[in-house]
Parts: sequence; structure tokens; C-alpha cells
Amino acid sequence: MHILGINAYHGDSSACIYKDGELIAATEEERIRRVKHWAGLPTEAVQFCLKEAGAELSDIDVITVSRNPWAKLHYKVWHVLRNHTSVGAVRKRAAHISSVRTIKEDLAHALGYQSTQLKAKIKFVEHHRSHIASAFFVSPFKEAAVLSVDGMGDFTSTMRGYGKNNKITVLDSVTFPHSLGFFYTAFTQLLGFPHYGDEYKVMGLSPYGRPCKELVDKVREVVHLEKDGLFKLNLAYFRGADKGDWVGLEPSGTPLIKPLYSGYMVEKFGHPRKKGEPLTDYHKNLAAAVQQVAEEAIFYMVEDLYKKTGMKNLCITGGVAQNSVANGKIVANTSFQQLFVPPAGHDGGTSVGSALFYYHHHLNQPRLPFKHQAYTGAHFSNEEIEAFLKNRGLSFPVQKVSDKQLFELVAAALTEGAVVGWFQGRAEFGPRALGNRSIIVDPRRADAKDLLNEKIKRRESFRPFAPSILKEYTNEYFEQADEVPFMEKVFLIRPNKRQLIPAVTHVDGTGRLQTVEEADAPRFYALISAFKRKTGVPILLNTSFNENEPIVNTPEHALECFLRTDMDLLVLENFVVSRKILPALAEASQVKYQVRQ
Ligand SMILES: [Fe+2]
Repeated sequence: MHILGINAYHGDSSACIYKDGELIAATEEERIRRVKHWAGLPTEAVQFCLKEAGAELSDIDVITVSRNPWAKLHYKVWHVLRNHTSVGAVRKRAAHISSVRTIKEDLAHALGYQSTQLKAKIKFVEHHRSHIASAFFVSPFKEAAVLSVDGMGDFTSTMRGYGKNNKITVLDSVTFPHSLGFFYTAFTQLLGFPHYGDEYKVMGLSPYGRPCKELVDKVREVVHLEKDGLFKLNLAYFRGADKGDWVGLEPSGTPLIKPLYSGYMVEKFGHPRKKGEPLTDYHKNLAAAVQQVAEEAIFYMVEDLYKKTGMKNLCITGGVAQNSVANGKIVANTSFQQLFVPPAGHDGGTSVGSALFYYHHHLNQPRLPFKHQAYTGAHFSNEEIEAFLKNRGLSFPVQKVSDKQLFELVAAALTEGAVVGWFQGRAEFGPRALGNRSIIVDPRRADAKDLLNEKIKRRESFRPFAPSILKEYTNEYFEQADEVPFMEKVFLIRPNKRQLIPAVTHVDGTGRLQTVEEADAPRFYALISAFKRKTGVPILLNTSFNENEPIVNTPEHALECFLRTDMDLLVLENFVVSRKILPALAEASQVKYQVRQ
């Protein structure tokens, strides 16, 4: 049985394909279209998934969609009537609902079919139920409480419930415009970060601030914790919350979040920081206060969920669950003993969630044995890469090396200060590069952040870089020894280790780690092991392989990124492209061929 899951007409549009409950492939549409957070119908991702499964669209039995046009319909109608929303807004919403409802026809048309040729049934799975399923059904837990928190999907911003075996039970939810995601976004905009998905910048800025109690109390006025264990926003701080027109679309297909803060919020917290204006101590303190209040709200909802379920395991998902700083503190600040955050807790992951919800919850199919699944995207053989490089025409040396040579020479090049583009295996599904589409650097270099920003990333200097660590050394370097396979939690680095790995130690002594296990990521594990043999340090700095664009997906994207930037070395499976012959490289092997110029 083939199930095609899709997230369509929503940020991080994506597709996945399951065959008899086994995930065959999943990818975000942005990786192929090269437009960040692309939000239309994921026709490219669907075609990729079909190809991976060796299936045609006409073979698909069920198409699940992580939206439900009928969800909270009574509320949507009431909202429109109560607020005398403009005719234009009503039309827009009606058009949006209609585009979701014609997905089967639209997919058929895009892929060259008549809709009558498709046997697939369409099943709509509400947005947060899809989020919840995308976490619980890929977790190692037989039973767990689940919290889904984001900006908004299907008019809901937060949903709590629990999973037991192959069933999900929803306990309660928070309806738009009350949203912890939009609370965080409003302040993100006020702090001068206007783009969709910029919230992580405020999280990165927050450790630089030292907010006084007065400022934290002021931020607490914006979000009220309610007796039912949930929260409400003080809508006076939000512009036109009654109109519901916060979200739009750029002409490029990237989602657009309009300014959410009201004049009252500006009066209370100051004018929005303009582009190019410096980040002052006030901005840093405000970022810290916002992070603190967001954490308080999360811990409050989580602790109440613990009381309501009595379960010891928790899954958290949704846009707010991308807040790895908050995730790293949940176990210490609540009664839950274990926390699982899925690799794709963002909206892209709802395609997987909708398919899993239908397969397990609706069809009552049993769950399969647990395994970590983050590497589900595009992959290329050495033969394909060689053919591509030969045709491409480069003036740089290209070498083909064995695995053993590769790990040794890349580790050696890293110790010599190289910035390495590391492309191998299947692309990751989810917002993090986990060693298959990564840029890696020696974490011991105090100047690594400057080096990376100068050579490639050109990003804000306050943003930290992340450590990938061999799992068995986690306890030696971090104060918590939890499993963090998807770089989804931030932990304190032990004080005696911080000087050793300055490139991945944030200003507050923390690191957003990825624990790497041989069984899940054998080649990345082998590379870090080779680096450890040379340096004694079982850690690499790992940042996503991109430069102000979606993470690279193909050898061509990777090579273009290499050529645009000052990256020293590009690894494409067993091929190494280098700007110059580094000593380590010269020793390891001879140049196999130099591609024509
Ligand atoms: Fe969402």
C-alpha cells in the first residue's frame, strides 16, 4: 500500500512516500525549487518521492494532506462575521480552502494525468494532529504525552494530547489569534528580523542579554498563563489580530509574515530596529526576556500536561519546538523524564505526520520497530558524481579516494584550518544538516566563527555554530548525557571543556549538539573518529551546507556553493575538489584527473 503524504499551501511545503508503513523518501520542496520555505503545491517533491519508490502517481492508494479545510470551520465563519473582515480577505480564504480541496486534481494536472486516472483517496489530517503524529509515531515511546506549538495551522496554534501504541488522543488546543509562535515572531520583528523563520536569531541573541525583572514582567504582560494550563495573548499588543491577515506569500513563493506588533507594543517596547541599526544592550536584554517568557509558557503547559496524563515521556513538535534552548531545559524544569523532538518538527514534517496519522491511527496498523530517520532525501552515486564533474569543466584538482583515505585526509585538512563542504549519502529531512549536507570546521579554532563568516556564511556575528559529537563522549563534554540525534537541544558544555572547543561554545557556555551514532550515520561517525585520532577531540563544528539559500541538495548545488564562496575543500562522496593542494591532500593520494577548464 502506497501513501503519499503532502504539506501543501503552507510554509515548508513537502512530500513523503510510505510503502506498507515503511518510509521510502521525504523531502521539502524548497530543496529542489531553491526557494526558502516555499509554500505552494510540492509537485517537485512528489515527483522525487515517486521516483524513489519506483511508483507512478496512479499507483498511489491514499494521498494524505496535512491540512483540513473543514477544521474549526464554525470558528472561521464566526471570526469572519464578527470582525466584518473585508470581502477581499473572505475571497482569499475561500480561494485558499478551495486550493487545498482541489489538490488531487492539481497534482494530476501537474504530473500529466487526468484526475480520473488516479485511484488515490484524499484524506485531510488537521495540521496539529499531523504535527503530533510526526513526533509520537517516530519516537521510541510506546506511550507519551505530546505538545504541538507553532504560529498557526488550521486556525490552531497549540494542541496537547497523548499517544498510546498506534492511537493519538487530543486533550485540548488554543485557537488563533492566541499563539506562542506569533508572540515570539512579534518580538523577532521588533528586534529587526523581519523574515519568515527568523525566530532562531532571537534565540541565538538571547544569551547576550541580562534582563532586569521589570523588563521580564513587561514581557509577561503580553502572554497570560491561564488556569486551564494553556495561555492567552493580550491582543492589545498585536496589530489587527481580529482581521486574521498576518500571513501572506511573497511573489517568490516564500511565506510572508506581516508586522504583528501593534502601536501599543511599540509604545511599550520601543520602535522596531531598522535594517543596519546596531543591536544595543536593550535589544539583547529584550531578546533574553522574550526567550525566558516563552520558556516559562512552555514549561507551564508541559507541567500541566504531565499532571493530566501522568506519563513520564514527552514529545514536542511544531515551529516553537525548534527552540532548541527551551528543549534543552524541559526535562530539568518539568516532571517529565524523557523528551523526544523529531528531526522534522517544523511544518515540513507534517507531510510525514499526516501519512502516519492515517496509517496508524485511522487504519489501525501497528507501529514498526523504532529507528532514527532523518536521511530520507536525494542521493547520488560516485558514478553520477564523476560524470557530473567531468562534464562541468573546472580548473580545480579533483581526486577520487577510498573511504579510509577520505576520512584521514579530511581530518588532516581540518586540522590545517580547512573549511570543508561535506556532501554524502541521503539529504536530511528537516531544518538541520546532520552530516550529509554539512560544512565542517575544526571546533578548536578560536577564529572559526570569523573564518566561516568571512569565507562563506556572512551571517550575524552573534549566532553560534553547533558541535557534532561522537555519542559515547557526550557525558565527558556536556553536563547532560541525553541522546540528541537531530541537533534539537542545547546543553551546557562542561566548564573545563569550553576552552578546548571555543568555536562551538556559545557566549553562555552552551552548545546545540548533535550526538552521532555509528549505526545512524556511519560515514560522519568515521570522519569524526578520524579527527579524534589526530586531535583527541571527538567533535566537529557542523553547520548547514548553504549560503543564504536552502541547504544544498545535489552535487551541482554543492559545487556552485563551493565556487561562489571561499570554501577550501569540497567532498562529494569519494571525490575531493580542492582550491589548492593542501599538504594532507598531497600526501594522501595523487590527482586522478584535472577537469578541463
Ligand atoms: Fe505548524
